[in-house]
Amino acid sequence: MSERTLVLVKPDGVSRGLVGEVISRIERKGLKLAALELRVVDRATAEQHYAEHDGKPFYNDLVEFITGGPLVALVVEGTRAIPAFRQLAGGTDPVEKATPGTIRGDFGLEVQFNLVHGSDSPESAEREVKLWFPNL
Ligand code: PPS
Repeated sequence: MSERTLVLVKPDGVSRGLVGEVISRIERKGLKLAALELRVVDRATAEQHYAEHDGKPFYNDLVEFITGGPLVALVVEGTRAIPAFRQLAGGTDPVEKATPGTIRGDFGLEVQFNLVHGSDSPESAEREVKLWFPNL
């Protein structure tokens, strides 16, 4: 069954020129792009996106980072798109959790600068797709 997920190439991924690499991996996996936009996200949207992490020690740094430069937001669709993109991304910590062959494992060093975001559940995906692409 086809599903949709919200993917972000975070500002570090954009500034390092990894947008094409990420999209290429998504497409080679067999997933399709349903929406794609380069944008600088405002603080209110970033706070809504990361609302579940409000109060955690890294929350403010995360919001500052994600609003600090252009990012690429995508809606990706296909069979099991949510876990499939998380498999491509690798674990949150690019060294301790992500394995080589994943986006974070191949290109990341620090937890904050972990290059990509992917929705973690069908409920998150629905909420995030609505937040980032309300007209889709
Ligand atoms: S948690 O607490 O287990 O739910 O957190 P986790 O799922 O591992 O991470 C949630 C998002 O917060 C980011 N993160 C951080 N940012 C900056 N600094 C630190 N130390 C840090 N730790 C976690 C992490 O990259 C996740 O962002 P997304 O965009 O959802 O991948």
